[in-house]
Amino acid sequence: MADAVSVIAAKRDGNTLDSDQIAWMVDAYTRGEVADEQMSALTMAILLRGMNRREIADWTAAMIASGRRMDFSTLARPTVDKHSTGGIGDKITLPLAPLVAACGAAVPQLSGRGLGYTGGTLDKLESIPGWRADLTADEMTRILDDPAVGAVVCAAGADLAPADKKLYALRDVTATVESIPMIAASIMSKKIAEGTGALVLDVKCGSGAFMSTLGDAQELARTMVDLGTDAGVRTVALVTDMNTPLGRTAGNALEVEESVEVLAGGGPADVVELTLALAREMVAAAGLDVDPADKLADGTAMDRWRAMIAAQGGDPDAALPVARHTHEVTAERSGVLTRLDARAVGIAAWRLGAGRERQGQPVQAGAGVRWHAALGDTVTAGQPLLTLCTDTPERFDRALDALTGGWTVEDGSAQERRLILDRIG
Ligand code: URA
Repeated sequence: MADAVSVIAAKRDGNTLDSDQIAWMVDAYTRGEVADEQMSALTMAILLRGMNRREIADWTAAMIASGRRMDFSTLARPTVDKHSTGGIGDKITLPLAPLVAACGAAVPQLSGRGLGYTGGTLDKLESIPGWRADLTADEMTRILDDPAVGAVVCAAGADLAPADKKLYALRDVTATVESIPMIAASIMSKKIAEGTGALVLDVKCGSGAFMSTLGDAQELARTMVDLGTDAGVRTVALVTDMNTPLGRTAGNALEVEESVEVLAGGGPADVVELTLALAREMVAAAGLDVDPADKLADGTAMDRWRAMIAAQGGDPDAALPVARHTHEVTAERSGVLTRLDARAVGIAAWRLGAGRERQGQPVQAGAGVRWHAALGDTVTAGQPLLTLCTDTPERFDRALDALTGGWTVEDGSAQERRLILDRIG
């Protein structure tokens, strides 16, 4: 039998941990036998020393074994899910899930709430009156099985990889989140336990993402693709740009509104491009031969969206909440918008009330940032560049602080943005 101190010392000294040591440590921590201070020492040693492929697979397997595995093998349609590592204005799940369902797959999307400055899909959908995130496994299966719906976006139950929930909260307060092996194991334990047959990962790279360099994003993507493949899940990753926020809005109801525009055949070009790229990967991974662009154009994806929202108690026709106060930021000079920093916009939206500082806090549905120009657009001095939205106007000053230096307007032209930087799988 292992003991915590010798496991910690082994990793501290740069040794590899064996499968029994990892299984015991994760299980004993979940049961409360290994103390928080011991697990935090181990996670710091892992952050500094790393883990090899076998150790990462064992760590992931131990977290899956800590809870229940879901099983959708009885569904008539192939299952496929998408996971994004999180970015600013990243509302892609909202149009993507119904679009892929419209192509003939079942999409079981377990999502999270935002913590820190990246938004959470559930917070966005909860701005739709009546919509609820908590479903039982039976409700999920029924919605996925319904040929008129086929997509579900809901909260992961407490029994899905409980070791990860406890560990993530510990990593969050011990500066040990930024470990590629532990991020990969954390994400993939939940996705493998969810029981999807195929998975497409959107690994974000840039100022508004966990991974700021292309090399780190590629390493994270490769690690997750290997974990998924080894577990029998057909897994592909796109590495995508997150130096600039996606679309034209960051915030909960603001992003729902933009997603509905995409489903209606409009919306910002980058959101449409990424939605279609991920949809094509998902459809292929599910073994289907359908072009998602057709399902977007003919309105089937919009029908699925409406059915998906209604199936979870939401009213797709209800007016979305609007913030009570707005503040406009204007361009100080004329020129071309050559930079809009994702992190600055994300922190501003968060400070306006779109996100939370502590788990469990409420968020403001209408809060966030709307930007009126995309990279490469010409702007004129005095024209509105950004609109800040909140119910609590005392938040404007701190949001404006976050935006200081957050964009560049200059003479000349912007470098063309490459949205999709790599494909791994
Ligand atoms: N998202 C997760 O689910 N886990 C991590 O460790 C980081 C991001």
